[in-house]
Amino acid sequence: MPAKTKSPYLLLANIGQLVTLRGDQAPRRGPALKELGLIEDAAVLCGGGKIIATGRQRDILRHPWLKKNRKKAQELDCRGRVVLPAFVDCHTHPVFAAPRLVDFEKRIAGASYEEISAAGGGIRSSLAGVRQAKRTELADRVLKAFDAMLRHGTATVEAKSGYGLTMEDEIKSLEAIRQAAGRWPGTVVPTLLAAHVVPPEYRGRADEYVAEICDEMIPQVARRKLAEYVDVFCERDAFTPEQTYKIFFAARKNGLDTRGHVGQFTATPLLPLLAFDPASLDHMDCVQEKDVLVLSGAETVAVLLPGANYFLGHKVYPPARRLIEAGVAVALATDFNPGTSPTPSLPLVMSAACTHMKMTPAEAIAATTINAACALRLQNRKGSLEPGKDADLALFDVADHREIAYWFGWNRCVEMIVSGQSV
Ligand code: NIG
Ligand code: FE
Repeated sequence: MPAKTKSPYLLLANIGQLVTLRGDQAPRRGPALKELGLIEDAAVLCGGGKIIATGRQRDILRHPWLKKNRKKAQELDCRGRVVLPAFVDCHTHPVFAAPRLVDFEKRIAGASYEEISAAGGGIRSSLAGVRQAKRTELADRVLKAFDAMLRHGTATVEAKSGYGLTMEDEIKSLEAIRQAAGRWPGTVVPTLLAAHVVPPEYRGRADEYVAEICDEMIPQVARRKLAEYVDVFCERDAFTPEQTYKIFFAARKNGLDTRGHVGQFTATPLLPLLAFDPASLDHMDCVQEKDVLVLSGAETVAVLLPGANYFLGHKVYPPARRLIEAGVAVALATDFNPGTSPTPSLPLVMSAACTHMKMTPAEAIAATTINAACALRLQNRKGSLEPGKDADLALFDVADHREIAYWFGWNRCVEMIVSGQSV
């Protein structure tokens, strides 16, 4: 059958290396982070949007269903290349109206992210564009970003609001995410990030803004099911730990789950945050040793975002090796946003993680698949190729999985299968 016709059955044949990540539906920790469940000379049978079987090609071809129905299945010849679970990008900020080019040039000239923010740049400078934009314009931009992510191997994206910072504009941002998600084949997990910074109209009255988030925005977003998660940027010049607890408490009270930006520039005390059982705590550039130990015993995933370190020109990256050695569940994400990480490419982030954080290429793959799925509590559907899970797969034009993180800036993703269909 020619490719692209729709059959509910798809056979991916002649796979050189199949990265399955099979195993427990739980985050990989320590040495297990590099166990990829590789199968050489493999095939995958998908049906009804799910994985039916994975294995050596000669075994798959003997599958009872396939023996009877080979003609019914559409076939994709993978020509000896690498197939892996589609990536899960578990931290992105796609709802913005324009790139921040002035900040980019200021930073090149020597200013820091915090200096630029204090001078009126940074997150606050993205507010006007989002507030003025129509929902459909924002949705078009979000869709463009999702499509770019898809082309680089990603089929599940967490997407935050956070550049509106009024009830109306945060809701408009979440509606734009929903509208884009409806036009995109992958899976989108929306997050309310009203606590990104204190907006200018609340200057000096941060607690009043926090009260508005807790008493007005979160209940309304929860009622309208516009988000699954509530996020807070817990940082100097953003929100204090105490304000973060209040917002997390309101989230839980309204049936929403939590995740946080912590330790990007200064260390955040993690123990009190873990009491809210957040799905993830992200950035972790600055993390205290006692918190590393506490995290190693938690379900919460530490999402590392080296795209931000790269783009901000930082010499120091998150301490991935220490976290992995301690047994912390580590994931990687793009942090796609206009201020610190304007890349849709997880392979580029994996390259930075390998080169600058000394993660191995295999660890980087587990951190963008199964562990990233755990960071969204989607590990029962996403992040590995096992019978019954969603048939979201990426085909890379490479012979060895280690090449995915190796060819930086060269997109080797050549085909995406989402819900068992080539897209
Ligand atoms: O994850 N740190 C806070 N939020 C983003 C940056 C957002 C921005 O600068 O627009 C981040 O890096
Ligand atoms: Fe972020």
